[in-house]
Amino acid sequence: PAPAPLDLKNIQGDILSGLPKKTQLYVFFDITDVARFRKDLNKFIPLVKTVAGVLEDRKAIDDHKKKKLPGLLTLSGVNISFSHQGFVKLGIDDTGLAAGGAQDPFVVGQKKDAITNLGDPANKDGTLPDWDPAFLKDIHGVFLISGDSILTLEKKKLEIALIFGVGTPQTSIKEIITIRGDVRPGDESGHEHFGFLDGISNPTIKGFDTVINPGPKPVDAGVLLTGHTGDPALDIRPDFRPDWATDGSFLSFRYLFQEVPEFNDFLTKNPLAKDGNGKALKPEEGSELLGARMVGRWKSGAPIDVAPFKDDPALAADPKRNNDFEFAGEINSQLRCPFAAHVRKTNPRDDLEVPPPPRAPIDIDSRRIMRRGVQFGPELTAKEKQEGKTLHDRGLLFACYQSSLTNGFQFIQQSWANTKTFPPFETQPEDPGLDPIIGQGVREMSGLDPLNEQKLLTMPAFVVPRGGEYFFSPSIKGLKSTIAT
Ligand code: HEM
Repeated sequence: PAPAPLDLKNIQGDILSGLPKKTQLYVFFDITDVARFRKDLNKFIPLVKTVAGVLEDRKAIDDHKKKKLPGLLTLSGVNISFSHQGFVKLGIDDTGLAAGGAQDPFVVGQKKDAITNLGDPANKDGTLPDWDPAFLKDIHGVFLISGDSILTLEKKKLEIALIFGVGTPQTSIKEIITIRGDVRPGDESGHEHFGFLDGISNPTIKGFDTVINPGPKPVDAGVLLTGHTGDPALDIRPDFRPDWATDGSFLSFRYLFQEVPEFNDFLTKNPLAKDGNGKALKPEEGSELLGARMVGRWKSGAPIDVAPFKDDPALAADPKRNNDFEFAGEINSQLRCPFAAHVRKTNPRDDLEVPPPPRAPIDIDSRRIMRRGVQFGPELTAKEKQEGKTLHDRGLLFACYQSSLTNGFQFIQQSWANTKTFPPFETQPEDPGLDPIIGQGVREMSGLDPLNEQKLLTMPAFVVPRGGEYFFSPSIKGLKSTIAT
């Protein structure tokens, strides 16, 4: 049977559609007066942009473009999410959220999970030396404010501050930290700071997406939304989710710093001498191929599984082709794409779904996540390029949604990116190694040299996690019926 239509007016917009963004503010806050907060929240709820609202905004953006009107359409969208500590503070029973009980990453919180499962560098005494002190505190919630310009966002932030009485003795919240993200300028728009086009491969959703391009098959809505077919909590008990906990999603936020000059320096110092056909490469070409093999896509976004040794910008720009690859027929081969390349690690496609016998196929739909990150920090300066050293903070405000943190973000980071034996290739002498972008641990990977697949390359960490938290983004009904009073 066709899946029941989703209630697009009940689901927060960032989850399924992504709030339109040029600039974003993540405003992390604590609740200081519970009774007042729950009252104030009533006034805030009308500001929340739902999926239906985003779809309208996107139409307006298209119209604006079609009419060739100058500049960007003035537009903003607000979403709100709460941490487990937030629900504790509010006195709201959130057992209907965390299917994993006390062990659920949502309940444990990311501060602890970073050490126990995510592999963030930690001191012996269990402290996180790299983390920003703001994220070592208990954070109760986060407002995501998204829009066309910082002016629009600051106005929206002020509107929210007024609702919650910020700056008056009656305030019900306290800001912990606000982090601003910006889409990169000009031709780099849509590219993350290492230079690679991002945001290409996100899951399409049964019963929601109308345009399905060739690539991974659509997933059940419950992979992303709580309380729908595909939500693993329903396997525990079909009625596991109370009404207020349906149509929501778990948000994993990660404050990831990127060391761009150091990354570039590594590529410069380790150029591949030849491509997979044995053709000699100029040093710049060899460095570019090395970078593409670390990510699994060229900077243009073209997948190396389709264009293994030469970039193909036309392929990158074609939505019908740029996600249409499965690593098919490449079990036990790193010729076209290394096993540990970032996109193969985080979405191994046929490596699990069409494995060599006797291994049984593993459906990976339940591991898919909806990524909604944005860049932060300035472009590289001349001095940084010259010195090959990071002098200004920059990176990715990584955000992803899923119905289960255990199945989604946490699993991908811990069991795939950080695990050198994944994907499993029993007949292969070499281990894949770690994900060269996000892998934490002994950072070594094989397969970078297409003509010497077993050769290991050791690399420093180019991505440093400096904080984060797990949140739940409730439905509008959930906000009204249970969180506000
Ligand atoms: C894809 C960069 C962190 C999961 C990609 C792509 C790039 C990229 C360039 C390819 C574009 C695309 O397919 O959309 C980065 C950078 C990161 C980072 C620079 C850190 C600074 C993470 C983290 C996770 C993750 C922390 C999850 C634990 C994924 C997934 C895909 C992806 C699931 C799509 C794979 C596919 O379906 O083919 N990333 N990423 N990334 N990344 Fe990341």
